Amino acid sequence: MVLEKGVLIVFEGIDGSGKSTQAEILLRRLQEKGVEVVYFREPTKGKWGRKIKKKALHPGSLTPEEELDLFLKDRRENVEKNLKPALKKKRVVILDRYYYSTIAYQGAKGIEEKRIARMNEEFVVEPDLVFIFDIDPQKGLERIENRKRKYRLFEREDYLVKVREIFQSFKGEKFVHIDALKSKEEISKEIEEKALALIS
Ligand code: ADP
Ligand code: TYD
Repeated sequence: MVLEKGVLIVFEGIDGSGKSTQAEILLRRLQEKGVEVVYFREPTKGKWGRKIKKKALHPGSLTPEEELDLFLKDRRENVEKNLKPALKKKRVVILDRYYYSTIAYQGAKGIEEKRIARMNEEFVVEPDLVFIFDIDPQKGLERIENRKRKYRLFEREDYLVKVREIFQSFKGEKFVHIDALKSKEEISKEIEEKALALIS
């Protein structure tokens, strides 16, 4: 199936909300339908993304501003190297985390949300659809507690409460807020419907 233009679909939400599960389900469903679709995630596996992961192992080693700077560098590279070329080829691009994560996570560390938004809007491609997975942080953390990680810098519960509030505050036509406590099947059906409505 060849689309008239590229479509960018973003999955956002706090850790353990189930967004990666659903991003992968949508990827498979679209592939099965013969849609040309690609999947990317942020932080990326590129040099800035690797630096983010490395620094995240040492809580407190970066100031919020330094963190912001690294996520912006990683995103610039992702936009230029991955997103723009795929959209130019009229692909559906599924993206696991984007600049709403920066507004929410770095915003929850005290950086002004509007400033973070402006810095991103200077260079990002605007998405067509943004799914925001909403869950109580405690429940999200329970879902991922057996993931093997030494430290999870971004995942303290009180901090995630603030991150969640910022995610909840995104309003507008392209935002779809998902109750992440629903079953995987129920959520994937809703997501597929919204995505197909956009593509066809
Ligand atoms: P995220 O990418 O948001 O951190 P994941 O997609 O990795 O979250 O999901 C975290 C865990 O929760 C996984 O073990 C996954 O199987 C499980 N999970 C995902 N969606 C649901 C759901 N709707 N109900 C219950 N468990 C779920
Ligand atoms: P990762 O383990 O890739 O998270 P997940 O599997 O939950 O998507 O780690 C990414 C972490 O980085 C996650 O806790 C959210 C955080 N983050 C930010 O703080 N700012 C950002 O701009 C992005 C993209 C992620």
